[in-house]
Amino acid sequence: MSQQTKFLLEESQMPKFWYNLQADLPKPLPVVLHPGTMQPVGPADLAPLFPMELILQEVSTEREIEIPEPVREVYQLWRPAPLYRAHRLEKALGTPAKIYYKYEGVSPAGSHKPNTAVPQAFFNKQAGTKRLVTETGAGQWGTSLSFAGSLYDMQVEVFQVRVSYDQKPYRRAVMETYGARCVASPSNETVYGRSVLAKNPDHPGSLGIAISEAVELAVQRDDTKYALGSVLNHVLMHQTIIGLEAMKQMEMANAWPDVVVGCTGGGSNFAGIAFPFIGHGLRGGAKPRMVAVEPAACPSLTRGKYAYDFGDTGHMTPLTKMHTLGSQFTPPGFHAGGLRYHGMAPMVSHCKELGLIEAVAYNQVECFEAGVLFARCEGIVPAPEANHAVKGAIVEAMRCKAEGKAETILFNLCGHGHFDMVAYQKYFAGELTDEKYAESELAMALAGLPSVPEPL
Ligand SMILES: Cc1ncc(COP(=O)(O)O)c(C=O)c1O
Repeated sequence: MSQQTKFLLEESQMPKFWYNLQADLPKPLPVVLHPGTMQPVGPADLAPLFPMELILQEVSTEREIEIPEPVREVYQLWRPAPLYRAHRLEKALGTPAKIYYKYEGVSPAGSHKPNTAVPQAFFNKQAGTKRLVTETGAGQWGTSLSFAGSLYDMQVEVFQVRVSYDQKPYRRAVMETYGARCVASPSNETVYGRSVLAKNPDHPGSLGIAISEAVELAVQRDDTKYALGSVLNHVLMHQTIIGLEAMKQMEMANAWPDVVVGCTGGGSNFAGIAFPFIGHGLRGGAKPRMVAVEPAACPSLTRGKYAYDFGDTGHMTPLTKMHTLGSQFTPPGFHAGGLRYHGMAPMVSHCKELGLIEAVAYNQVECFEAGVLFARCEGIVPAPEANHAVKGAIVEAMRCKAEGKAETILFNLCGHGHFDMVAYQKYFAGELTDEKYAESELAMALAGLPSVPEPL
């Protein structure tokens, strides 16, 4: 056999620990603040929302945290996930670069999201939680938590951002198949949702609004907790299984990345592939470039301000320091619904401030163009979110071609796009356009950032 395409690990080679980048950071993360007191948030403040085990993971500085055996047993339904060498894409691009991609679309939900949905449901079950409430953009996270809830016999309620709810009716059907209930957000089921609808009955929704609705519901009942699909430290840590597996697989391929690329909505799949490599670099290993790719229509890392802000639009969450477009910013209704979030994970933002990662932004049409080329070479139809990573990898490969460099590029193909075919149909019909936000709206949202006393 002349060329190897797939690099597969045995189930016994699946990592038994998640990696916690907090252990290796040269400077600790800024503290999380209570918006009322402006004092650091403690575990007790978070207890109405999350089980204690997840709160402890959120603040842990241990380098490795064990993946409980029952969680590993569930992971085995789809993990270890394959790593591919994109021989045909390389050929189509005529690049000397070697392109590898880790494929997370093999999970039951079709993306990386079950990597954290399963442990979140597991730790909630252990703590006696009966009901989980959450938000979803693209529907990938809602599907994942619905799947995890069904494993542990827990009721799951999902607020799905209105524009995605309308664009992807079959996502809701999958959530219902797993036994969950899915509501379009803004909804009439919460005080906050009703207040948004009163001002604009046709509001397209946003992840920030859906989070407010889910949090409002979660704090009302002791048997109910909130689950977040991205942004938080423990969520990013659960996703590091992606990068930890990829490291082993790159070794199998006798290769090591010069560049690692991932798309960023809240930052979890990017962190999943990037953090183990960043940590390895901080401990004296090779330091690949880390490229976060975000949508130009919701550019938190490239155009946002690094400041304290709310994680939701209704101001029910604590304040975290992150790159933000302002919690009142409503991104236009472009198709990568999972990337329509006003903020970025504090850990990813911190890495950007420390110069450990780079960020770029691309428009949706060029990302679909990249995704279609990828599908025609490699066979997998990427999710619109994943198209951003494909675009980022192709840009790097073309740079290598221009510079005559045979660099190794690794990117995370975080999900398939089988529920996103309406977006592809629009692209082929020439009806997909680059959605733009109004600069005045961004300026207004940034002007509304909470004022936080310095120094912290
Ligand atoms: C396929 C896919 N990729 C990426 C994202 C963005 O989230 P994150 O940046 O946390 O990976 C989502 C979120 O829903 C998604 O569904």
